[in-house]
Amino acid sequence: MANKDVTDPARMEKIVSLCKRRGFIFQAGELYGGLNGCWDYGPLGTELKRNLKDYWWRKTVQERDDVLGMDGSILTHQDVLKASGHIGGFSDPMVDCKTCKGRFRADNLDNLQCGQKPSCQPGDHKTCELTEPRAFDLMLSTKLGALATDDDPKAVAYLRPETAQSIFCQYKNISDSNRVKLPFGIAQVGKSFRNEINPRNYTFRSREFEQMEVEYFCHPDDGMRLTDEWLEKRLEFYEEIGVPREKLHILDVPDGERAFYSKKTYDIEYEFPFGIQELEGVAYRTDYDLSVHQKGSGKSQEYFDEETKEKFIPHVVEPSAGCDRTVLAIICEAFDEETLTNDKGKEEIRTVMRFKPTMAPIKVGIFPLLKKNEEQVAIAKELQAKLQKWMPVFYDESGAVGRRYRRQDEVGTPYCVTIDFDTLGESGEELKDTVTLRHRDSMEQERMKIDDLLPWLLEKVK
Ligand code: GAP
Repeated sequence: MANKDVTDPARMEKIVSLCKRRGFIFQAGELYGGLNGCWDYGPLGTELKRNLKDYWWRKTVQERDDVLGMDGSILTHQDVLKASGHIGGFSDPMVDCKTCKGRFRADNLDNLQCGQKPSCQPGDHKTCELTEPRAFDLMLSTKLGALATDDDPKAVAYLRPETAQSIFCQYKNISDSNRVKLPFGIAQVGKSFRNEINPRNYTFRSREFEQMEVEYFCHPDDGMRLTDEWLEKRLEFYEEIGVPREKLHILDVPDGERAFYSKKTYDIEYEFPFGIQELEGVAYRTDYDLSVHQKGSGKSQEYFDEETKEKFIPHVVEPSAGCDRTVLAIICEAFDEETLTNDKGKEEIRTVMRFKPTMAPIKVGIFPLLKKNEEQVAIAKELQAKLQKWMPVFYDESGAVGRRYRRQDEVGTPYCVTIDFDTLGESGEELKDTVTLRHRDSMEQERMKIDDLLPWLLEKVK
């Protein structure tokens, strides 16, 4: 078992710096000093995140017969969150320091720094004066309607703290309109909001973030078995997107630490450079959710089994993944620095993001060897136009080709294609209309016919 306390801040610093330099992730509102706990994804980060969400959707909804999708509203009726227990119950314990005026999550003091110099864990500095913990509400609210006044409690709506609640509330509509039988799931990808006391570790704990959740409805007898099955499915998924099994840890959350309604919860954790932390929870939530909404709304949420003539409230197994956390895990896992010896015998560092081709923001770089060679440029541009109908490509004609390769390595482009003199037939008919295909990870090069490139790439990046 890896040690939870082993961290690598230097590696994390390099990752954060590369993400900013190459346009993966920026602090939201940076121009005005930054909005704490909020992040903007730049061009490459956006592509990476879309690839992750698309792949999750494909594997979770499209390739399964038993999961349907939905896209619920972020603004949430207050009664939904009253029934679910979020209003008045969704909080973290917080302490204040009377000396530095800092506010800290009381159950996470080991990982926090106080505002004093030299900075240490809150409570450890000789002048620290911490209050008793009190509950801090994590819900973010707003007022709806042009006529809403500041003191109108009915106008209050909430930014959803999880995507799950709209799934529970639409369970009946979706099951009735699709004539589904148990077990079946409803999946959703979307934004959630929590007023975290201490957003930290880059995008890991944010105030605005995206979740990828499934609520899988089943017969009570199947809940435990399906929880284990979903855990296995989710572990396979991480392997497929480039987060290897040996870097993941399964925490079987013990009795007393799970939500009171959960009979089983697994946390899937990843070895981030800032420690081992949760990526996803797979929880058996019993019939808690549909029961509270049945009570709250007064409308039956029962299921009638035509075959057994049984009537019951379905139980729920919930694999709930954080999209931003998974993007961060993919980035941390991909980041590599390799020492190479250059042509002059000098050692140099190659920074390379070893993304799986499916996740890579740019799939292929296209380079004419010489930008002054009109024929090479024309073929390269024609190839660019052909490929970009199918995938993100990057055309680059500036600087030495070796440098162009390095620039693509740094953003994780798995393949680069160079159009050279051989392509034009200058070394004989045999090589005419072929290109150099260069592989990011091995840096090996091979010749390939231009016409074979598209089907070959589509197979690799799908
Ligand atoms: N519906 C269940 C639920 O929301 P959760 O454990 O609170 O459970 C599920 O959240 C996942 O959402 C977490 O495993 C994590 O990946 C992600 N998540 C939760 N809070 C987050 C935050 N403040 N910033 C980024 N991701 C977060």
